[in-house]
Parts: sequence; structure tokens; C-alpha cells
Amino acid sequence: MAKIKTSFACQSCGSVYPKWQGKCNACGEWNTIVEELIEKEDKQTIDWRDKDKQSNAKPKKLKDIEVGETYRIDSGDSELNRVLGGGITPGSIVLMGGEPGIGKSTLLLQVAIQLKNWKVLYISGEESEKQIQQRALRVGNKNEECYILTETATHKIFHYIKELKPDIVIVDSIQTVHSRSIEATPGSVSQIRECTGEFQRFAKETNTPVFLVGHITKDGQIAGPKILEHIVDTVLQFEGDRNHVYRILRTIKNRFGSTAELGLYEMQGHGLRIVDNPSEILITQKDENLGGVAIAATMEGMRPMLIEVQALVSTAFYGTPQRSATGFDTRRLNMLLAVLEKRVGLNIGTKDVFLNIAGGLRVEDPAIDLAIVASLMSSYNDNAIDMKYAFAGEVGLSGEVRAVNRVEQRIQEAEKLGFEKIFVSKYNFGKGKSSPKNLKIQLVLVSKVYELMKLLSL
Ligand code: TYD
Ligand code: MG
Repeated sequence: MAKIKTSFACQSCGSVYPKWQGKCNACGEWNTIVEELIEKEDKQTIDWRDKDKQSNAKPKKLKDIEVGETYRIDSGDSELNRVLGGGITPGSIVLMGGEPGIGKSTLLLQVAIQLKNWKVLYISGEESEKQIQQRALRVGNKNEECYILTETATHKIFHYIKELKPDIVIVDSIQTVHSRSIEATPGSVSQIRECTGEFQRFAKETNTPVFLVGHITKDGQIAGPKILEHIVDTVLQFEGDRNHVYRILRTIKNRFGSTAELGLYEMQGHGLRIVDNPSEILITQKDENLGGVAIAATMEGMRPMLIEVQALVSTAFYGTPQRSATGFDTRRLNMLLAVLEKRVGLNIGTKDVFLNIAGGLRVEDPAIDLAIVASLMSSYNDNAIDMKYAFAGEVGLSGEVRAVNRVEQRIQEAEKLGFEKIFVSKYNFGKGKSSPKNLKIQLVLVSKVYELMKLLSL
């Protein structure tokens, strides 16, 4: 009789315990610990390695290691290249996370199709060949060398990989594949960890890039183990509001580039379209000035982006006033409201406040604060702000407008888009830093929120 070994793993963070308990000590979640079958005694290992490619690593002096030519594979998608730090790195393992239905499969299938002259193997454990073909026809099939495999057992997958020798492997998704060296069910922590480990060894030893799709739980974690993030080289997150068409591809971790990069897409009837000029779509084109609307000159990653902020401040009729924000942290909104109450003297505590960032995007850049307070003051006073004005500044607790990074880039972008004035912090151009000359846009320096209200005559 084969001896069965089990362990108790937290499905949220991946910590392993010798026996069951109600609460995970590591992540503090309740009821997430599940017994998993780890291995049978007659463990079968997978040998997908080619003998000649087997690594025989020995300790070497750092200075003796040859870098060789560090080349990148052009994925044919400028946004994906950008977030990966300039293209796909050979031998890298990339995890793409995102909520169901956000467009992960579409994006990776599009990449597989666009990669002309590269042999791509797209492994799907979620959809049938027909479904994939339908989608491929929808987004426009171009790559002759794109192979589809609907298989979930890793030993079979590696068998085909050995036969086909693809240049790039895409696994959709890591939660559906399973390894026979472990008995746990697909999608469980130990299976995900084992399968990722197998793909990682394959990627490193054959220098083949591997993309893994990972589902995300409600609270935004890549389902199952956080541990995955340590195994892989790059973690990308595909996010956006499913009811909106815009999607952001963010880098959470990247061993080959900056994590400040980000890609923007628009979901259309025939796949994802790259958005080259984000500012134009994030601002509603209209002629009249509207109350409660202000334009923020933000930076998303390394990219300047002008985004419309809309606020509605109205009298609360029922008990506690409501505070609700879409695309912005509600706690930060509460802080800005407190600043307006205390430092500017607005009687905002008894009002309902709603805030909306256009395009369904989530903005984390603190420089959006100034546009938010401007839109709040505008809605509170029922007085519109000129749509040719842009704002960039962080607001502090004492109502001061603080300096923001890359202010020149924000000013340039606003100028390029034909804005007439941009309000920025006075402290951006303090000692030794003179403000840029020869600007078509008028630079307005503010140091306090109160001053801003006066300048805007709200
Ligand atoms: P999908 O790639 O299946 O999402 P994921 O793999 O992240 O679960 O994307 C699914 C959504 O995208 C689906 O609701 C339909 C929509 N979609 C389009 O709007 N246009 C298209 O061309 C395609 C292929 C999908
Ligand atoms: Mg999918």
C-alpha cells in the first residue's frame, strides 16, 4: 500500500501547518486551512529535460560570468513590451493576474498570434480548441506557428513541449494544470506551487519564456499562494472595471525592468486595442464648463496622463452622510474632506459626497489631490471650473499644497493637449529650481488650498 502524505495549507497565503487549525497564523484569515494530499510513495517524477540541455551548474566567480547578448523578444505589442521592461526576456517566467473576464486570455492569445516567426504554444485548461479558434478569428489570426493544446496534466504538456520545441509557452491558467507527482486537486496551493516550479525549471533550463495566467481572488490576491510571486520573475496585473472598456496592465514585480511602467488597452469587439494617447480618452470632450469637474495631470508609472475628476456634494437627508469614491481611496477622500472643513472652512461634514474618476481607472498618484479638492470645492459652491485648467499637487493635512514628482512632464502634457493654465505647488519651484520658461501654458503656483479657492473664485 502506498503511503499517503498530507499537509494542511492555507488557501489564502500558502502557509503550511502540520495539523488543522481555524485561523492562519501567517495571514490571519479564518477557515482557509485545507488538508491537501501531497504525495503518494510511488512518486513519479517528470523528465522533460533534453539530456544535452541539462544544466551542470558549478560555483563561479561573479566576474567570470558572461552576460552574453541580452536580447529581448519583441512581443508585437508595444504596451506589453513596455511593462516587461523592453520585451520578453528569454528564460523568464511571467505571471499575469487578473479578475475573471478582464481579458487575460484575450491579451495572451493576441500576443501568441502577433508573434510572427516564433513558435508559440498556447496551453489552455479552461477553453476548448473551438472556443480558442473562435476567439482567434475574432482578434485576427496571423501567426502560422501558433499551436494550441488543451491539456492540463503537466507530464503530458512537457511531453508535447519536448516534441514541438516551442519558442514561447503560454499557460492559461496555472490553476487548471496539475502535476502527477502530487495528489492534491488542481487549483490547490500545493498543486499551483508544484506546477509553477516545474514550469520555472523548464523556463530556466531551456531558456524558453513562459507566461502563466493566474486568477485573482476578490480581495485582489493571486488566488492561492502569494508564494507564486516569489517563484516567478515578473508579476503583471491586468485590471480595470469590467463595465468600462479601459484596461490597465501593471507591473507588480519585475526582475528585468522597472515596476513603474504600465500599459493601457481598450477592449473592443475584435480584441484589445492599444491606447496610445491616454489623456484624450480620459477627458470628456465638451464645450461648456461643468460644476464639480476638474482635470488632474497625473503620472501613471512613467507616463503623464490627464484624467477627469468628478465630484458631487449634496445635502445629506438621511442620518450619516455618505462618502463614496470610484477609482480613488475612500480614506484619502475623507482626509481631503476634513482638510476642506478645517482649513478652508467649508461646512462639508453634513453633506453627501460622491467622487468619480473618469474611465473606470484607479489612480494612486497623490498628485491627483489638488484636482480632487478643486472639484469638491466647485461642486460645493456650485461654480464651474474652466475646462482649460489642469491641476497637479498633493494636499497635506494642514491644507498645504505639496510638491509632486516629474512636474515638468505633467506641465508638458497639459500644454500639448491645449490647456491654458496648470495649477501646481509653489514648492515644486523652490530654491534653485526655476520654473520652466517659454511655456504656452500659464503656470499658477499655489501653496495652500485656501489660496486655490480664491484663485478659482469658487
Ligand atoms: P477573457 O480574455 O476571456 O478574460 P479572462 O481570460 O481574463 O477571464 O475576456 C473576456 C471578456 O472580454 C468577455 O467578457 C468578452 C470580452 N471580449 C470583447 O469584448 N471583445 C473581444 O474581442 C474578445 C475576444 C472578448
Ligand atoms: Mg481566461
